[in-house]
Amino acid sequence: MIIAIDGSAASGKGTLAKRVAAEFGYDYLDTGALYRAVAFSLLNAGANSNKIDEKQAVNAASTLNLLLTQTAEIRTDKVAALASIVAAIGPVRAELLSLQRAFAAAPPSGRGAVLDGRDIGTIVLPNADLKFFIDADLDIRAKRRTKELLQAEQSVMFRDVLAEMTARDDRDRTRLVAPLKAADDAITIDTSKMDASEVLALALSHINRVCPSEQ
Ligand code: DC
Repeated sequence: MIIAIDGSAASGKGTLAKRVAAEFGYDYLDTGALYRAVAFSLLNAGANSNKIDEKQAVNAASTLNLLLTQTAEIRTDKVAALASIVAAIGPVRAELLSLQRAFAAAPPSGRGAVLDGRDIGTIVLPNADLKFFIDADLDIRAKRRTKELLQAEQSVMFRDVLAEMTARDDRDRTRLVAPLKAADDAITIDTSKMDASEVLALALSHINRVCPSEQ
């Protein structure tokens, strides 16, 4: 079973994806971490975030050290903003595509895979067994992200997080390659007024309907 979970920043898609994977013993791939790791390695190499060299970005994607995806250093708003910029470069996306598809085709557990991102249901895995599209009001998402960053002891202000998220949403939704959008066959969940347990319960009810043997 392959489950695709797309959505906007701080919509709750990552939490849902991890919980669904844990529920069934499936493997989870956070594809945003791949783009963040590319951005982080570019920043480390001294790249100027106002003017990214496409060749350098493609090279960073093709030589990506996957251990970077597990580090806390990629979880800053600066890295997220650059990740969204490099993610608009078609050849960067092409470099990361086969890795994502290979993970879904042969998840380490041999049971199933849950991938979350922006284009999983539309481009990466159009034949996924089940697709979710997770979204929430911008203000609520910015509040959630501010809380998360403060908990991670990063000094941030709501106003800046909101501005960064607005710009990132806009870039992710309007780029020409693989923009953030719901697949035609995705189930949309608006998490604005739901907590993580309610979102999980709703998603599980859909999974149970589509594939009762997984419960
Ligand atoms: O999910 P995230 O916030 O960690 O993602 C960081 C950025 O990476 C996001 O703003 C856009 C990009 N991204 C993408 O373009 N496609 C994906 N499948 C996942 C992330």
